[in-house]
Amino acid sequence: MNITLTPEWRSLLQHQKRLERKHLRDLFAEDAQRFEHFSAELDGLLVDYSKQRIDQPALQSLLALARLSDVESWRDRMFSGEKINISEDRAVLHTALRYSDFKPFPDAENDVMPQVRAVRKQMRDIVERVRSGLWRGFKGDAIQNVVNIGIGGSDLGPKLATRALSAYQHPNLHFYYVSNLDSAHLAPLLEKLDPRTTLFIVASKTFITQETSINAQTARTWLMAAAMEEWAIGKHFIAVTSSPGKAHEFGIPDDNILQIWDWVGGRYSLWSAVGLSVALAIGMNGFERLLSGAETMDLHFRKTPLEKNLPVLLALISIWNTNFLGAETSAILPYNESIRHLPAFLQQLEMESNGKTVSRDGEALTCRANPIVWGQIGVNGQHAFFQLLHQGGWLIPCDFVVAASSDHPLPGHQAPLLANCLAQSAALAFGKTEAQAREELTQAGLTEAQIARLLPHKVFAGNQPSTTILMPSLDPFQLGMLLALYEHKVFVQGVIWSINSFDQWGVELGKQLANRLLPAIMGDQAYDAQLDTSTCGLISYFRRHGHV
Ligand code: F6P
Repeated sequence: MNITLTPEWRSLLQHQKRLERKHLRDLFAEDAQRFEHFSAELDGLLVDYSKQRIDQPALQSLLALARLSDVESWRDRMFSGEKINISEDRAVLHTALRYSDFKPFPDAENDVMPQVRAVRKQMRDIVERVRSGLWRGFKGDAIQNVVNIGIGGSDLGPKLATRALSAYQHPNLHFYYVSNLDSAHLAPLLEKLDPRTTLFIVASKTFITQETSINAQTARTWLMAAAMEEWAIGKHFIAVTSSPGKAHEFGIPDDNILQIWDWVGGRYSLWSAVGLSVALAIGMNGFERLLSGAETMDLHFRKTPLEKNLPVLLALISIWNTNFLGAETSAILPYNESIRHLPAFLQQLEMESNGKTVSRDGEALTCRANPIVWGQIGVNGQHAFFQLLHQGGWLIPCDFVVAASSDHPLPGHQAPLLANCLAQSAALAFGKTEAQAREELTQAGLTEAQIARLLPHKVFAGNQPSTTILMPSLDPFQLGMLLALYEHKVFVQGVIWSINSFDQWGVELGKQLANRLLPAIMGDQAYDAQLDTSTCGLISYFRRHGHV
């Protein structure tokens, strides 16, 4: 089906033409209860989408588009364990990782829960031993430092969650995340850490990812230089992987290998043993609260009618902004310092899932899919790129994300933080008209000539759409809900764009080429005759200047 030729799509184009002439100021003026009509709360998590440029008729047409795309049936197919990741012939069952019922899941015949529970038990055992000091290093010391070596989904989710929940962190444990191949990531850490008190988690679903393998080998060499004996690896290395054989070859004993499965996508793996560092930081009960928050969102997504279904609404709004209003990017603006890694996490979740131009059936998409996702801490952004959001003339939908209470409170900070967050979304939405700007300048006592000169600079067009997501506090449960909200949003978008959101073939070409270029960069081989002149020129520079 070419979705852009359907009556539902055409009707949305009509709404776009109608709403093009309306400002968010008009939409708020027309509906005194716009906030009540365009916001919803689930177990404390409030989603306010009233500052999006939609009205009820447009929303109804978006919901019709969701029905036309069979969102509910695709959702049920995902939860039923069907192999909806067709290009890799895999089921998509990360929701099993947070499923707490005692019934089989996805069904009696294909029940994955016994394996999930077994690994969770293994996690609990490790977590309790490390946190209580029972787990000892090769010299008999308790663990003080945990280094997660991983990249992509094996880094971003655990790093985000550990930092986000730092208020719950074990006081004697320190956590580090190493992902970059650049030795400047690992080297300073190795200089300051003590091998006797350091535990490495090598998190890699495949266990062949180059960045992770090289960092893990270097860490192993560093440990062996101090410990001298192979058995020490078992005291200082844990692997999380779907390739236990490869972890075993690395020297990690079976008891320290935690399994994940092919039905857990890398960017959806936080909930698996990939989240071990989070569990070590906040305890296994805290980790289970994180899972419980995500499960609450799963249940909401499964059971709630589309028109009240938060992930569905967020997906439809994003489709509206991208395909009808023409937004090319979308900004993620967390206001709490502890969720500063949210933009990076969502970049992978959204762009690796839906950054595609081919449908699940291999056809070219007839409309643009995922926008470019970017962002950073909102307050810092205010003093950097917000100028462009306010007056740069680009349409950039924003997600403001903030917790009402601080996780690390100090007197005098939280109210101004919240005021800034709310002020920005309001300023972006409503702007400042020429009349308002003139009035202000007149009040300030400026002359007509001064006003004429300054006026164009003082006008804010506004009409910049945003969603605000509020949590009572940054706790494991709320964080679980928040991240699962985005996961399902991405899924719904993928369904409507007819994308398989669970493969990532686009990352392969660069990996293949890097392997091909390596010998030439190391100087072991003459240049590949097939290489372009630019790459040859750059290699020649490296050979002259690099110490590889
Ligand atoms: O290259 C992309 C990717 O496969 C991601 O999808 C994944 O999260 C990351 O690499 C890391 O993969 P692994 O966990 O297998 O090391």
